[in-house]
Amino acid sequence: MKYITFNEESKVFTLRTKYSMYQMQVRDYGTLVHVYYGENIGDTEAAYRIICLDRGFSGNPYEAGEDRTFSLDVLPQEYSGYGNGDYRINALEMVHEDGSDATHLRYESYRMMEGKYSLDRLPAMYGSADEAETLEITLYDRITSLKVHLLYGVFHDLDIITRAVRIENKGEKTVTIQRAMSMEMDYPSRHMDLIHFYGRHSMERLTERMPLCHGVQSIESKRGMSSHQHNPFVILCDRMTSEKHGDCYGFALAYSGNFRCEIEVDQMEQTRLVMGIHPYHFSYRLKKGDVFEAPEVIMAYTRKGIGRLSRIYHDAYRSNLIRSKYVTAPRPVLVNNWEATYFDFNEEKLYNIAKAAKDIGLDMFVLDDGWFGKRNTDYSGLGDWVVNEDKIKGGLPKLVKRIKALGMKFGIWIEPEMVSEDSDLYRSHPDWTLRIPQRSMTRSRHQLNLDITRKEVRDYVMQQIFRVLDSCEADYVKWDMNRSVANVYSSALPPERQGEVFHRYVLGVYEMMEQLVTRYPDLLFENCCGGGGRFDAGMLYYSPQIWCSDNTDAIDRLKIQYGTSFGYPISTMGAHVSVCPNHQTGRTTPLETRAVVASAGTFGYELDLEHLTEEEKEIARKQIQEYKKIEHLIQTGDYFRLSDPFHNHDYVIWQFVSKDKKQTVVNGVQLRNEPNPHIHLIYLEGLDGQAHYKDVQTGAVYTGAALMNAGIPLPVGAGDYQPIQFQFQMIEDTDNDGAVTVRK
Ligand code: DGJ
Repeated sequence: MKYITFNEESKVFTLRTKYSMYQMQVRDYGTLVHVYYGENIGDTEAAYRIICLDRGFSGNPYEAGEDRTFSLDVLPQEYSGYGNGDYRINALEMVHEDGSDATHLRYESYRMMEGKYSLDRLPAMYGSADEAETLEITLYDRITSLKVHLLYGVFHDLDIITRAVRIENKGEKTVTIQRAMSMEMDYPSRHMDLIHFYGRHSMERLTERMPLCHGVQSIESKRGMSSHQHNPFVILCDRMTSEKHGDCYGFALAYSGNFRCEIEVDQMEQTRLVMGIHPYHFSYRLKKGDVFEAPEVIMAYTRKGIGRLSRIYHDAYRSNLIRSKYVTAPRPVLVNNWEATYFDFNEEKLYNIAKAAKDIGLDMFVLDDGWFGKRNTDYSGLGDWVVNEDKIKGGLPKLVKRIKALGMKFGIWIEPEMVSEDSDLYRSHPDWTLRIPQRSMTRSRHQLNLDITRKEVRDYVMQQIFRVLDSCEADYVKWDMNRSVANVYSSALPPERQGEVFHRYVLGVYEMMEQLVTRYPDLLFENCCGGGGRFDAGMLYYSPQIWCSDNTDAIDRLKIQYGTSFGYPISTMGAHVSVCPNHQTGRTTPLETRAVVASAGTFGYELDLEHLTEEEKEIARKQIQEYKKIEHLIQTGDYFRLSDPFHNHDYVIWQFVSKDKKQTVVNGVQLRNEPNPHIHLIYLEGLDGQAHYKDVQTGAVYTGAALMNAGIPLPVGAGDYQPIQFQFQMIEDTDNDGAVTVRK
């Protein structure tokens, strides 16, 4: 084991990544305390920082005898139980058969393994013996014989530590878990800020930064999905931390259902963060021998600012979370018919869009909602995964054959978790929905959640969908989910297990997605949840991209994609050029600007291409060619946020740099033009300061150091919403004749 050690004498565990270090210690009475997480501190063990004093009203465990300084109420702990004198937010709460609810976890043992642990039916980062090591620490509750296995995955080179928890009932009696957080992190007295990503449908992952205050603050979803409203990714950082400098910590939950991240600043100015499945409507019964696994939290630390923290996540997800070949392979640039036609199309209309797409150089046609059952509006049809031949005469295989004959790939939209009341599926199986006995249901978009906690329901739906995908040899699937989960009750579960429905629903989704990606390993799979309602690390385990938002307005997208970039790689964000005036905002922006914004994502088009003028078609043709030239930078390069759209109202700029630093693209949008304008300088990042770079458009040559320290002026006098585009290529120093050669 290279990166995990245990000092038998001091009882300190140390986990090391390239630049970070994590320490825990087994203290008196088998208490596992958290010692340190931060910059590498060499061979020092930071346990000296924990000073025990007699604190009024903070009780002491009985075993401590007359020692009044040892209190769980103030000690930093690694994973705290409930009802044992620690009055802060806790990681684990259970109810036992006798009605008591205390759990006192003591250290029992540890084991270390090469490679990364995996979880049962849950997404998680993966890693071979060369890439990761695992530490498992087992805690034990003596009275109930409950074992709690704390799992740590150490990715040294990626600078990532993951955590998860496996709870095992070794006792005779049934216990009910009320709260099983995936992790706890205790910080000593320290003033920190919280950065999180809030929003709403069509305006997801907006950025908010605020100082932590005394008491508990929480970021959460109770909607059965990770949600548009909050995101299961948060950052804690020092008050002075900026994009480029300072201490920061990221916590990303790889889970797509209800979640909660609670942060408490306590009486001693200590901060505790817990993250995991939301305790709301959650309870899980563990009979003798049963095991429950809490989903994974992916943690990163850096002292080099928030930009660096984001790049750690981008690299980690691309190399050890997303499994699709498309994580690096060029993705087909697509046209999607949703905003072009909504539900109103026939086979000729679709074919004509595909033909126009081929003409401008697109690679794939995606048929969105409306192709099945009686799906002429969003009031009907979900659940009937049979093509609507009134709309697509001759059926799907015939249309797809024509489209593929153009040399285009074909993709299709599905929404497997749902059913419309007006559908054959609902008429024959009304009991297959989540539904609370005797109560009327909450509708949303006039659709209901199927009870996919039930295997027969999952299997039925997937069989229908597989039949369609096989029949049209689909190259791509967009899996949508267009309502929050409500009516939370499954007729297939006994009353005492109704608290498991939310979690079983998510496990059901994961099982269905696993079947999909296993059956079609080459499929390009895009997740969607009314846009970005399930944009989380859990989903990225199944699909390399997620439709970022139903809002395709280029100006709003600047904020949405900026916020998303904090926790997620740019290549995971579905982004399309749509028509103007924009359907969501009514705003008009230049076609060039829409393409610049959409190319900071998985580039595609979503408009009626037949209606483009010849001039617009020519512009789009060039955009697609240009995008293909820089796609590798977006997929595999480093990403830098050069401005903050929440504070800078003049322009938004971002930058991609290839890993070898030889190529960089600086893109952005000028938001506002002013008379007698300021000269705005932007400062590039991530280049080789010693090297020379040529501006690909003008031929001007700069040192990397100049581009980063002296900056480059933005174009002056461009109008509102104008695109900003620079590209620089590293060059050899000029030879004797003054000619420059591009370095290979
Ligand atoms: C919501 C998605 O985000 C849209 O792109 C589109 O697929 C609609 N659903 C279709 O109902």
